[in-house]
Amino acid sequence: MDGGTAPNAVAAVSEGRLWDRLMAMARIGGFTTEEGDQGVNRPCLSALDREARRLLIGWAQAAGASVSVDPAANLFLRWEGTDPSLPPVLTGSHMDSQPHGGRFDGIYGVLAGLEAIEALAAAGVRPKRAIEVVAWTNEEGGRFAPGCTGSMSFTGFKPMSAFDDITDVEGIRYADALAEQHAEEADLPRRPLGYRPHAFIEAHIEQGPRLEAEGQEIGVVTGIQGSRWFTVTVEGRTDHAGTAPLSLRRDAVQDAVRAIAALNVLMHDPSDVLRFTVGSITTEPGTSNTVARKVVFTIDFRHPDEGVVRARGDAIPGVVQAALKTCTARVHERFTAMPVDFGPTVPEAVARAAAAQGLKAIRLPSGAFHDAQFLVPVCPTGMIFIPCRAGVSHHPSEYAEPVACANGARVLTQALLDLAGT
Ligand code: GLV
Ligand code: MN
Ligand code: MN
Repeated sequence: MDGGTAPNAVAAVSEGRLWDRLMAMARIGGFTTEEGDQGVNRPCLSALDREARRLLIGWAQAAGASVSVDPAANLFLRWEGTDPSLPPVLTGSHMDSQPHGGRFDGIYGVLAGLEAIEALAAAGVRPKRAIEVVAWTNEEGGRFAPGCTGSMSFTGFKPMSAFDDITDVEGIRYADALAEQHAEEADLPRRPLGYRPHAFIEAHIEQGPRLEAEGQEIGVVTGIQGSRWFTVTVEGRTDHAGTAPLSLRRDAVQDAVRAIAALNVLMHDPSDVLRFTVGSITTEPGTSNTVARKVVFTIDFRHPDEGVVRARGDAIPGVVQAALKTCTARVHERFTAMPVDFGPTVPEAVARAAAAQGLKAIRLPSGAFHDAQFLVPVCPTGMIFIPCRAGVSHHPSEYAEPVACANGARVLTQALLDLAGT
């Protein structure tokens, strides 16, 4: 492996091109808030997603990459190496956004990967191994929860069919949305699901405040904390809000409130490392003057320590049941990702590249989950973080400076070359 600089390819990374492409992608599903922030709402497997993919494909083909799609609708852009028989080095991220999302989460990593291909093409560099850029399907879980279904399918973490019956808010099944995507992209070459890459690197905005606060330019990501998602369904009985005595009610909202209060006690962490979020609560029938029959709320629980992820996550169903006064409840776990450590290979390549380019870098773990989490059992894996303003993300005001985006793409280009060999 070559740990030195790759000046031609690195110098060929274009800050302007990368920025213009980020802004062009931000227009697909883009909206402006009352505060003037420019957000993005680009659900996976939607017409907007396909429009964004077509734009990406056009750029990739013009750069000399070949395009293919796997059965999970993961999209691959391949820059051939001098030895096509060797497993490629894989990079990329996702193109879907949160419903009230920003312009950088996900798409930055895909466009940084494409920028690396552009730079290699401009510099006339052919690495030994092919470099493939992937746009994973449904990382966010914003339309079809949970997220990371594309990468989980690719790595065999779960069979693809495990996601078939997930529905969006309109009741559309994941399998049907996937079939529609394939039909709309029938002209694209297909490839089989999954392979064992030589390595995987994902570039991403940090989505946290550390790099900016500490004046750092690159985050060498060491691993990702564990996440568990649950859906809790509390069932009682509807009643008249004006007439039914409280003592006779089976009020699902009141028991859901008790359950959430008890969960806050379970999840209490004076060190503020643990993350516990109830981000969605729906009630049925959902009118002011009817006692709710049903409440469904979500739990997103995260921690870097596997022991804590297991112990407190496993305690959730019991804590919910014990908190109920009049209703019944079902607790369903719908996403489980244990903490991962990236080990040395890819983080060292990222650290070497940042050092060779004179960029200030620190090592840090990721609080957000990423597709990279699911690649760890399959190949050496790592991530590159770039600073984002005030650490804000999953919000229309999410922002990364053009120079930060370019720095990340330059480090990615060099790390890819390092891993792919020349
Ligand atoms: C990914 O978007 C996450 O929620 O961490
Ligand atoms: Mn993301
Ligand atoms: Mn996200």
